Amino acid sequence: MAVYKIIEIGEPVLREKARPVPKINSNIIKLLDNMADTMYNARGVGLAAPQVGVSKRVIIVDTGEGLYELINPEIVRKEGLDTDTEGCLSVPGVSGEVQRAARVVIKGLNREGKEVCYEGEGMLARAFQHEFDHLEGILFVDKAQNLTRN
Ligand code: NI
Repeated sequence: MAVYKIIEIGEPVLREKARPVPKINSNIIKLLDNMADTMYNARGVGLAAPQVGVSKRVIIVDTGEGLYELINPEIVRKEGLDTDTEGCLSVPGVSGEVQRAARVVIKGLNREGKEVCYEGEGMLARAFQHEFDHLEGILFVDKAQNLTRN
């Protein structure tokens, strides 16, 4: 088990547009494994590579229905709107209300390099969008209303 340090708001890497992964190699597999350890250790429901200081387009999500791993993800469909409370491991102690699509379809590559496509609604859809935003240098506090310090 290897737990990375989680980068917090204020560090430039969180504001960069993350770079696509050109080739899935053992470093990317290790990154995915260690990101999962880091997310579960911090009791998060999602994590993006920039949050561990790696500016690559890699995200993971687990809202309680299993681990999703996506390399070079793209959100290919968004439907409906939903507003709910969010937080972020990179913005500790803060939560706020964020409006997002209620349902999304996201595609990308899995660790074997195969194209995968997932449909999510509710918390899963929210987590996919939140983590995808990290790859664009966007944090939930940029979009949130009624930010509160817990
Ligand atoms: Ni986050």
